[in-house]
Amino acid sequence: MDVDDGDAGLELVHLLRRITGRMDLMGSEFAAANGLHPTDLRALIHLLDARREGYAATPGWLSGKLALNSASVTALVDRLVRAGYVRRTRDNRDRRRVLLGVQEEAVRLGWAFFGGVITDMVAAMREFDGAELAVARRFLERMYDVVRADKPTDPTVRLLPLDEATTERLLTVAVHEARPIDVMPPVPDGEVWTPAAENAFREFHRAHFEGARGTLMYAVEAGGSLTGMIRMARLSPDEAETGMWLGRSARGKGIGTAALKALVTEAAAAGVRLIVADTTTGNAAALGALRTCGATLTNHGDDVRAELPIS
Ligand SMILES: CC(C)(COP(=O)(O)OP(=O)(O)OC[C@H]1O[C@@H](n2cnc3c(N)ncnc32)[C@H](O)[C@@H]1OP(=O)(O)O)[C@@H](O)C(=O)NCCC(=O)NCCS
Repeated sequence: MDVDDGDAGLELVHLLRRITGRMDLMGSEFAAANGLHPTDLRALIHLLDARREGYAATPGWLSGKLALNSASVTALVDRLVRAGYVRRTRDNRDRRRVLLGVQEEAVRLGWAFFGGVITDMVAAMREFDGAELAVARRFLERMYDVVRADKPTDPTVRLLPLDEATTERLLTVAVHEARPIDVMPPVPDGEVWTPAAENAFREFHRAHFEGARGTLMYAVEAGGSLTGMIRMARLSPDEAETGMWLGRSARGKGIGTAALKALVTEAAAAGVRLIVADTTTGNAAALGALRTCGATLTNHGDDVRAELPIS
């Protein structure tokens, strides 16, 4: 597609560049004043975001965010640990996994850098009403999706039928990267993980091993790691229903779309002619994945029914 000088979008691109340029400059000045390398500051910002959004940050995840190789990330994390901003811990559930956490000092530093500008930006946003802010949010998310560095063009995904061992690995992902309510039928206090919720997760998945009760459940593996689950529930010999979830750090990288494509291949091999799914108008990622895989979407108020014929 060509872009010409009169394109209205081009002006917005220039404005976005001015904002990011200005914030980059502020970041560099702040990093220099605090004896940090600019990349160290970027790493701290990603780690603070991970803490706020509640997902487990690992060195591998950070190297994806910064587009650095693992040796450079090790050196960078060493620097941040020495400076007292970051700590390494072992994951209690998977002892091979190292988790990165920010120290209170980094939170203080982050606020010293961003506090003033965040306060001013939030105050300026009060000039807009809810609907306007919703459009701004959709616009910015779409622009971020275009520029994000860690978006693989076509991630390789494998669907692994669930068994005891895979369910246990999947539970580790769920506990770190999702809420109980996102990954299984509601349990009491579905916002937080408790031993009872973990057992309910095991029981729920066990009940569908090997397609029992007409539902096949698969762990979604991408880049060698488990990232979430996708299911195929048989409604009739010709028709199946699907649904899926991914851990927070795996979302928005094309994995959901790739998993759905892989499920369509499995379904076709099993003689299914139509896949259906239910979602909502606000779930842009689910709608995008379904649309890309060829589904027809029909709105019923806030609910959306997707129908994906298999030829
Ligand atoms: C829904 C879900 C499985 C989709 O998987 P995903 O890997 O995040 O999605 P993808 O990266 O494959 O993106 C699919 C499409 O949505 C778009 N998209 C992804 N994240 C988006 C976001 N936050 N906002 C807007 N669009 C988004 C992508 O650009 C892509 O569109 P395109 O095909 O036009 O490029 C995943 O986001 C998830 O687990 N969400 C939480 C649980 C959930 O909502 N499950 C579905 C219940 S119906």
